[in-house]
Amino acid sequence: MNDTRNQVLDALAEEPVTGPALADRLGVSRAAVWKQVETLREAGFEVASTGDGYELREVPEFGGAAVEYGLEAPFEVEYHDTVPSTNDRARELAAAGEADVVVLADAQTGGKGRLNREWASPSGGVWLSILVRPDVPPAHAPAFTLAAAVATTRAAREAGVDAAIKWPNDLLVSGGEGGDGSTREQKLAGILTEMEGEADRVSWLVVGVGVNANVDPGELPGEQPATSIRATVGDVDRRLFTQRLLEEFHGLREGLAGVVDAWREHASTLGQRVRVETPGGEVVGEAVDVRFPGTLVIDTGEGLEEVTAGDCEHLRPV
Ligand code: BTN
Repeated sequence: MNDTRNQVLDALAEEPVTGPALADRLGVSRAAVWKQVETLREAGFEVASTGDGYELREVPEFGGAAVEYGLEAPFEVEYHDTVPSTNDRARELAAAGEADVVVLADAQTGGKGRLNREWASPSGGVWLSILVRPDVPPAHAPAFTLAAAVATTRAAREAGVDAAIKWPNDLLVSGGEGGDGSTREQKLAGILTEMEGEADRVSWLVVGVGVNANVDPGELPGEQPATSIRATVGDVDRRLFTQRLLEEFHGLREGLAGVVDAWREHASTLGQRVRVETPGGEVVGEAVDVRFPGTLVIDTGEGLEEVTAGDCEHLRPV
């Protein structure tokens, strides 16, 4: 958000203030203050003109300015009612040299999932992509995906949804027993990270997070059964949810070494029998550990195998 607009908003959040007093305080013209107040009104903030000056009465439900308002993380938020894919838009911003920008949308028309799958993104979800430029080698990039998975799980749990991470980065909710005695798991959110870098350094990372928030599961066709926050606990305040997700992600990226411990606390994969389809073939066994930056360790019965990428399925215990 524009700096002056941010300062105007911060001041209004504290108490009503007159235009001239605000202009003096910020060292800008009264016209500049008035212009920013108008822009805030256009963005959906209800700013009343009262005897005490401008008074902030209501913050919009969702949107870029709404998410930035009170956000305790240094991200700028670019909002779209509809966009083909927030990841693609974030890639454009990366090519333009931007950093620490979040592209957020109410709906996507060409949402992308992992392994070239489509990602259904109807209106009411939280579809966002975080563009960052960390000073790390490309091999550490998976840690940012884990960070996003943990951040999303924390936000979901705060919203009352009992979500857990399936390696590496699917958020699942247990939906009772499946017909064969196994636990039915439904997907609540997924993460798609894209990257550009040189041999020894990441240039940019786009961490795309899709959360089925205030949508009906019937709107979410796909190979895997899906659920939503609406279907589990009712509609969530998407502004607060997005803020919490971004704040948690920011905290984790600042202390990346701790991300694997945080992931272990929020994951359901460890201790489970799994089948992982890797580019090199199928690995089946018990998931016994995750190591930095996100490698899954599987006990196949004939030894330990480390898997860095693949599609993971939780199997019924034998
Ligand atoms: C998966 O297959 O599980 C990953 C899904 C990632 C979807 C999100 S929605 C926001 C961002 N923009 C996209 O086009 N994809 C990601």
